[in-house]
Amino acid sequence: PRKIIIDTDPGQDDAVAILLALASPEEIEVLGITAVAGNVPLDLTAKNARIVCELAGKPDTRVFAGCDRPLGRALVTAEHVHGKTGLNGPKLPDPKMPLQDQHAVDFIIDTLRDHDEGTVTLCPLGPLTNIAAAFKRAPDIVEKVQEIVLMGGAYFEVGNITPAAEFNIYVDPQAAEIVFKSGAPIVVMPLDVTHRALVTPERNEAFRALGTKVGIAVAEMTDFFERFDKEKYGSDGAPLHDPCVTAYLIRPDLFSGRRINVEIETQSELTMGMTVADWWGVTKRPKNALFMGDIDAQGFFDLLTERLARL
Ligand code: BDR
Ligand code: CA
Repeated sequence: PRKIIIDTDPGQDDAVAILLALASPEEIEVLGITAVAGNVPLDLTAKNARIVCELAGKPDTRVFAGCDRPLGRALVTAEHVHGKTGLNGPKLPDPKMPLQDQHAVDFIIDTLRDHDEGTVTLCPLGPLTNIAAAFKRAPDIVEKVQEIVLMGGAYFEVGNITPAAEFNIYVDPQAAEIVFKSGAPIVVMPLDVTHRALVTPERNEAFRALGTKVGIAVAEMTDFFERFDKEKYGSDGAPLHDPCVTAYLIRPDLFSGRRINVEIETQSELTMGMTVADWWGVTKRPKNALFMGDIDAQGFFDLLTERLARL
């Protein structure tokens, strides 16, 4: 299995991404989950990550708390999407499993240093603060990263938090810039992909019909989370942004994209956090990311439902 660190700000869609990873031990070994401030403040994301591990029946998963604010800006949160707790929808018990003592950034650094080069993949599902902080403090770890598979940014779909920017990149553009300029191999799941991974009523019924704690909780998370996108975009259901990352590790063939140059806007307040993606190759700037453009949505939901059934 591929060894990964999930860096996350749960978030209902983060929760589903974590469940998918924990349900897939043949393909994915979760070395640890690092929480970051994003959808809701850090104390809640660190708590939610543990709620999700317990829901999955994997209380031995190690969860670390990381940065409580972006590198150079005030924290922007998204309770308007995810609710006050970040995980509104199902009623899930408070976690009993402990939060690890080590800081998430130290865990990321130590883990990469302790493993052979090219054997650990980072999976950021929130603002890139923890990853960038680790790269800043320990530049030697960058070349040890196998791949960074992240959810963030947009090209044709442009923004969901401002007209120009996607939430994860907008919250910490400085961190995103550090990561995109790092030289580590990057795979990006932008809104262009995730807005096609929509939980239609039939797909949500398939989760509920699993009849398990996990299936019902995921259906209830989606019931809550979808009101935002239904109202805002008139879409058919909730986009499962973050699970695209963990699905890619299991079935990369479900996604297609292009290797392109992506730069991050960090100066203009108007377009702050925009992923300036050179999809048409109009510059000679170096190709620094595999930027996905499409997904086999039904294949993705079939995979997800089949895996959630295992928990
Ligand atoms: C991203 O922002 C968060 O609200 C979601 O969890 C996802 O990671 C989508 O823009
Ligand atoms: Ca997220």
